[in-house]
Amino acid sequence: MNLMNAKQPLPRAPGADHDDEHRIAELLSRMTLEEKIGQLSQLNADAGDLRERIRSGNVGSILNEVDVDTVNELQRIAVKESRIGIPLLVGRDVIHGFRTILPIPIGQASSWNPALIRDGARVAAVEAAAHGVNWTFAPMIDITRDPRWGRIAESLGEDPVLCSALGVAMVQGFQGDSLADSGSIAACAKHFVGYGGVEAGVDYSSASIPEIELRDVHLRPFEAAVEAGVATIMAAFNDLNGVPATANEFLMRQVLREEWGFSGFVVSDWNSIPELVNHGIAEDDVRAACAAARAGIDMEMASRAYPDHLPGLIESGAIPLPLIDDMVSNVLRLKYRLGLFESPFTDPRSFPPLLDAAHLALAHELALQSCVLLSNRDGALPLKREALRSLAVIGPLADDGYEQLGTWVFDGDARDSRTCLRALQALLGDAVRLNVARGLEGPRSRSEDLFPEAIRVTQESDAVVLVLGEDSILSGEAHCRADISLPGAQERLIEAVCGAASGKPVILVVMAGRPLTLASVCDRVSAILYAWHPGTMGGPAIAELLFGLRSPSGKLPVTFPRMVGQVPIHHARKNTGRPPAPGMTSHIDTIDARAPQTSLGMTAFHLDAGYTPLFAFGHGLSYTHFSYSQVRAARDQYRVGEIVEVFAQIRNEGDREAEEVAQLYVRDVVGSVTRPVRELKAFQRIRLAPGESRSLVFRLPTDALAFHDARLRRVVEPGRFLVWVGGSSEATEGSAFELIEAP
Ligand code: NOJ
Repeated sequence: MNLMNAKQPLPRAPGADHDDEHRIAELLSRMTLEEKIGQLSQLNADAGDLRERIRSGNVGSILNEVDVDTVNELQRIAVKESRIGIPLLVGRDVIHGFRTILPIPIGQASSWNPALIRDGARVAAVEAAAHGVNWTFAPMIDITRDPRWGRIAESLGEDPVLCSALGVAMVQGFQGDSLADSGSIAACAKHFVGYGGVEAGVDYSSASIPEIELRDVHLRPFEAAVEAGVATIMAAFNDLNGVPATANEFLMRQVLREEWGFSGFVVSDWNSIPELVNHGIAEDDVRAACAAARAGIDMEMASRAYPDHLPGLIESGAIPLPLIDDMVSNVLRLKYRLGLFESPFTDPRSFPPLLDAAHLALAHELALQSCVLLSNRDGALPLKREALRSLAVIGPLADDGYEQLGTWVFDGDARDSRTCLRALQALLGDAVRLNVARGLEGPRSRSEDLFPEAIRVTQESDAVVLVLGEDSILSGEAHCRADISLPGAQERLIEAVCGAASGKPVILVVMAGRPLTLASVCDRVSAILYAWHPGTMGGPAIAELLFGLRSPSGKLPVTFPRMVGQVPIHHARKNTGRPPAPGMTSHIDTIDARAPQTSLGMTAFHLDAGYTPLFAFGHGLSYTHFSYSQVRAARDQYRVGEIVEVFAQIRNEGDREAEEVAQLYVRDVVGSVTRPVRELKAFQRIRLAPGESRSLVFRLPTDALAFHDARLRRVVEPGRFLVWVGGSSEATEGSAFELIEAP
């Protein structure tokens, strides 16, 4: 067994340079206690007396002001009119674009394309920076395996390897090569930690996560973000194993500072310090402020427990002054790294215009790569323009510029959106007649009043495109659902349209903020294209995919259950002592009422759902077929510390060029603690011409096989490993290798 635990503190994150430390110390020596506490306070832009508070040095940061003239004026007050002259951090939730809205993060994650996601974050950063914003509260890198949780829309999915790679890409896009560069803004990895594991997918509720899982799954994207130099971390709202993150010394001090050497600062979530009273962790705001400061929350967002109570806590000795100096230093460090002391003001003319052509092109490409082709019976897609005289376009989301933008859109404008209907009109011109019907007043409507028109246009057309799903308001913060099926009367509309289509292709395009349970519609429609909420350029991307101008290449970053009762369901489950028999599906309808107690198999599955998902993690079809073969490790045996090389052949079997995400999964056959049946370890996005074959090489350091054992030591255990390479977590082409102790 190779022990890798007792992690040595990492070198401090980039930017903690000597000059800055010197300047921080010098500045601190000139600050009053009130001014120091002011640096730890972030207020919303509508806070009363904001200007006066900035002038008197009581505010270190503001959030939610994006009028550049106002931001400049507030910076001027901070720099020129306050005694100490420290510029402000200006925060904003720039979650998936600023004015050019990119697909929601779970959609972006479906691209499995870190480089494109990095460029998308850069576009968002540049547009936000033009408005004086210098700090975004993104990326959200909470691992979640619960589609009921509304914030799954903002997440990068269920897997720590994928989430780490994409989260790091976002950090790099926001922060650029240097935070001081024009267009760079500070990123904030959130929500630290376990927020994606809240009970029953109810936002803000408690999370109970064993420390092994915490370290092997939930902490990993945060550690990767810290290694990539993320400037700030946001504490989660929830309590983790009984201790709210906002008061959690283990997380904020031991893990973040001592183990990882994080040198940025930690911000609370909105009002989460006073909410420690609701959690029942503090009796009042005074004790809440004390607990948060001791735990390691450097800056308070929105509420005022710090300015109101830190002075008294310092006076009473409950909080030592050196602790405050550390907290302030963490904040000042970022202000220096951003170059704010040198240039606190924003000249919008030095930035490209909002919705710049390059920005829209990036949003378009991300939307193209975010859509996942879930099913495609008999090659119904792509539709062929020349074979159609008419096309029915049905559904309340077909021409709704607002809903396609998704959750967390503060600065986007629905009028900029290119909708599906408009894009189809532009693409098809006069050659194909579009017969349009709404079908339902809105996505949640239960009335069938508009069905007859939908049925009529179906009958009058050669093919049908149904654009359905969730309105934006059904996902995002505090917008959780217990029933994750298509809302309102959508399933009945699909039934009615499919009935009227009598064999003509019915293509379902789903826009949604989460995986929906689609089992009941799956067999009815000819194809399902899952577009998530695709953003400003969603319409053209969808139209081009439907008509085959591009082949779909998105892959699911999260498992789609058949029924909500299967949640949490994910690809990295454990085998159990009684694994389900392969192929075990629902047989609830055929069980004999008097069947003997032990006659049903006695294995781990649901009688009514089986054990498999509807669509597996990593799944996503294309208009071509990629075959995988000759998967093998370069050697049968590796020593711990070496690089495992895995080869595979991939071939584009079809007659069109397309992109594929090749995925490598591993199973550690025997461990000192139970190991997942499959874990994603690496992936590559590749483009192949028709008939083209390519040799793929994956180089896997044996450290990638590490996990935490029962004593919480990070170990790589020798033994046999199975490996698969393929187009989803259900890949069948595999091989094995042996890991042996280092000499
Ligand atoms: C609360 C959310 O949890 C967080 O993600 C967001 O950044 C802040 N509010 C600021 O809006």
